Amino acid sequence: MPAENTRLTAQAEALEAGFRHALDHLNGLDHRSVAATRTPSEIRSRLSGHLPAPQLGEDPKRVVDALVDACEGGHLGSPSGRFFAWVIGGTLTSALAADWLASAWDNNAVNQACGPAACAVEEVAGGWIKSLLGLPTEASFALTTGCQMAHATALAAARNALYAGIGHDVEVEGVSGAPPLTLLTNDQRHGSIDRAARLLGLGAKALVAIPTKGTGRISPEALTQALIDHRGPKIVVLNAGDLNLGAFDDFASLIPLAKAHGAWVHIDGAFGLWARVSPRFAPLVAGVELADSWATDAHKWLNTPIDCGLAFVKDEAAHRRAMAFRVSYITAAAEGRDPMDFTPEWTRRGRGFALYAAVRELGQQGIAAMIERCCDLTKDLVEGLAQLPQCEVVAYPVLNQALVRFTDPKGSDPDADDRRTDAMIAAINATGEAFFSGSTFGGRRVMRISLVNWRTSADDIRRTLACISDLARNLT
Ligand SMILES: Cc1ncc(COP(=O)(O)O)c(C=O)c1O
Repeated sequence: MPAENTRLTAQAEALEAGFRHALDHLNGLDHRSVAATRTPSEIRSRLSGHLPAPQLGEDPKRVVDALVDACEGGHLGSPSGRFFAWVIGGTLTSALAADWLASAWDNNAVNQACGPAACAVEEVAGGWIKSLLGLPTEASFALTTGCQMAHATALAAARNALYAGIGHDVEVEGVSGAPPLTLLTNDQRHGSIDRAARLLGLGAKALVAIPTKGTGRISPEALTQALIDHRGPKIVVLNAGDLNLGAFDDFASLIPLAKAHGAWVHIDGAFGLWARVSPRFAPLVAGVELADSWATDAHKWLNTPIDCGLAFVKDEAAHRRAMAFRVSYITAAAEGRDPMDFTPEWTRRGRGFALYAAVRELGQQGIAAMIERCCDLTKDLVEGLAQLPQCEVVAYPVLNQALVRFTDPKGSDPDADDRRTDAMIAAINATGEAFFSGSTFGGRRVMRISLVNWRTSADDIRRTLACISDLARNLT
C-alpha cells in the first residue's frame, strides 16, 4: 500500500513539525521579545504570496513550516511570565496537550451522540469547577468561548426567567411588547456586559451604572436607591474583580437586598471568582454563592489555552429554556447532559478536555498556590515600582490587579503625566522585556498590572523592575 504509506508518512511529518515548532516557541518564551516584532500588515504580506488563492496543493509539512516561518515575529508573548497586560493567562502543559488532542479527536461537543467523551469530560470538569468556586451543586453550566458569551448565556437565562415571572414567554414572543428590563450594574462593569445586553435585544439603554465613587464597590445605600428608582424586571450585575482595581462587591450585603426587590443577580467573575479557591482570598467572594448566575473564564486564571469561558445558572430550567432546541435529526441523550441544551452554539469545540486536564494538573491546592503566588508577585512588582522616583501607585492590589502612573519629571501637569505614562508603556513594550497595557482611570492615564500566569516567577518580576527602572531614569 505505497499510497497509504506515503499518506501516513506525510501525516507524521506534518504533525511532528507542528510539535517541534510549538516546543521551540514555548522554550523561547524566556528570551524572545514579549511584544510582537512584526506588524499584522508585514505578516499579511509574508503570508499572501499565493494570492488570490493557491492553485496547487502542497505537502502538509511544507505548509506547516511555511506558516510558522511567515508568522514568525507576529505572536504576542502573552504566555510569557513577563506579560502583564489586559487579563490573559498562559497555558498549563497538560491542558495544552489535551487541547491538541481535542483537535486530533475532532469531535463535535454539541451532544453525546456526536462527542461521547467530549460531553462526559465536560460534565465532570463542570462539576469540579462548581465545587472549586463554591457554587450551588444544583447549578447548570455551559462552556463557552469566553466570559463574553458566558454573560450572554447566563443573561439569556435571566431574561427568560424574569419575563416568565410576569407571564411573557420571551423565547416565543421576543422582547417586543414586553416591559423593559433594566440591568443595574457596578459603574466599573466590563464592556462585555454591555455587549451581552445588546445581543439579547435589551439595548444599551437598559444599562444603569451605579456610581462607586472611585472604590469599585457598590454601597448598599446606592443599590437600594437604584432598586427603588427602577421598577419592573431587573438584573443586578455585580463584580467579582473589576478590570482596573480588581475590586469585589460586597455580595453578602448586596445580594439579599437585590433579591428582596425581585431582581436576578448575575456576577461577572471573569478572573476574580477564582479567589474562592484560595483560603487567603476566599473572604473577598463571601456570599457570592447567593447569586442566580455567574460568569468566569478558565483561559484567564486557570491557565487553559484560549478559549474557555464558563456560565453557571442556579435555575437549571431557566437556563435550559433559554438555550435548548430539539429537532428530529439530532439524537438527544437518554441520560446525562447534552451541552447544546445550555450553550448558544451548535457545533462546538471539545473545551472540556483542556479544562479537565488543567484542574487535574494543579489540583485544588495547586490552583490555590498559583493564585496566591500571582497575588504575591503582583504586590512585589507594585512595591518595586513604588520605589522608582517618577512612579505613583494609583491602586495597590486587592488581588492581582493594580494601577500605576508615571509622572513627568519637569513639573506637575497632569496632562504631561498622562503623556509620560503612555510613553513609558510604549517604551517598556518596545524593549521586548515585559509587556503592559494602559487604561483611563478617574479621567487619567494609568498603566495596568494584571498577573494571572502560572509561569510568572520572582525572576520575571526582577527582570521587569530592572527594565522599568532603567527606562524611568533614561526616558526624557
Ligand atoms: C472582568 C471581565 N469581564 C469579562 C471579560 C471578558 O472576557 P472574555 O474576553 O473571556 O470574553 C473580561 C476580559 O478581560 C474581564 O476582565
